[in-house]
Amino acid sequence: MKPIHECLINKNTTIKPIWFMRQAGRYLPEFRNIRKLNPNFINLCLNSNLSNQITLQPLKRFNLSAAIIFSDILMVPYGLNQIVEFKKDFGPKLGSLDLKKIQNVTKEDFNKKLKPIYTCIKKVKSNNIIKEKNLIGFIGAPWTLLLYMINRKSPKKKIDSNFFNNKNLLNEILKILEIFLIIHVENQIKNGADVIQIFDSWAGLLDEKDLPKYVYEPTLNIVNFIKSKKIPVICFPREIKNYKEYVDNIKPDGISIDYKVDPIEIKKQIKIPVQGGINPNVLLSDKENLKKEATKYLNIFKDHPYIFNLGHGVLPETNPMMIDYLVKFVSDY
Ligand code: CP3
Repeated sequence: MKPIHECLINKNTTIKPIWFMRQAGRYLPEFRNIRKLNPNFINLCLNSNLSNQITLQPLKRFNLSAAIIFSDILMVPYGLNQIVEFKKDFGPKLGSLDLKKIQNVTKEDFNKKLKPIYTCIKKVKSNNIIKEKNLIGFIGAPWTLLLYMINRKSPKKKIDSNFFNNKNLLNEILKILEIFLIIHVENQIKNGADVIQIFDSWAGLLDEKDLPKYVYEPTLNIVNFIKSKKIPVICFPREIKNYKEYVDNIKPDGISIDYKVDPIEIKKQIKIPVQGGINPNVLLSDKENLKKEATKYLNIFKDHPYIFNLGHGVLPETNPMMIDYLVKFVSDY
């Protein structure tokens, strides 16, 4: 069985699979070279030859357990006909939100717009380099995508005070997102994704009282769909106040934790396989410190099914040598 399946399905505690969020990204010079020649990020994601190449870049350097498709969670708003741009030193910038236009998007329109992503998955899957490894597909959770679509830029640290004003709009978009996220996941699975990760990057911005409506209910429907396809699903509700309650409500196959939560508490409270946790900043320090932090997580989860990963994405200023050191250290542990 492939390493992440061994952990999530067999609950094997002796193997510690390893991969990194944003493993295909700006810290790699070979990525930056391609990126320089492709200033339009959306078009880059829609170029299946280049996205295939970028997906495989980290696997050519490091002995990772999985590839994650090079794409973005904001390709779904793009597929729903909202304009999405990525501006240098600003991040994502979304166009005005026209509910009528989004309501009129058909499954065929959506599939056609995002087809290159599925072609990329098929290409990656056919490469010998990942024969014994997992291929991770992903989506943004309904809440996180709803937030980008309404806010039209990164929320950074807080939700606008008038965000919840137009309840009808929120409800309609949420409904549409749930439908199209299921379509997007199904397409990824059909083309070879054998694990799905759900990124709820802004789950931590919500009040506890809003979690059932915006996080638990819509995410549960998608998780149940993925499970019905016999594909394991990992959820990453970043900075959510109560991981245990999230796990009890959603029952994913694995839970990815951020770097602010105490891994010892998680280990005590949560019975399902755990992923991640280590602060991406540690990769900017020195090898001794990295070894110390990695050992901490490996010790805490030594008799628990655990996938080694970070508590958020690899930072652009990371030296690839530090990733190399960490992968070797975890594999030899
Ligand atoms: O060169 C560049 O400027 C591109 C940087 C970049 C983005 N997305 C833009 C972006 C890269 C390398 C990606 C790839 C990406 N994004 C992947 C590829 C696979 C991998 O992990 O290697 C994945 C899985 C994502 C997922 C993603 N995109 C998440 C979870 C989020 C939400 C915010 C977060 O960081 O958790 C995004 C939005 C996004 N895409 C941002 C940027 C710069 C963040 C903007 C913000 O702060 O709101």
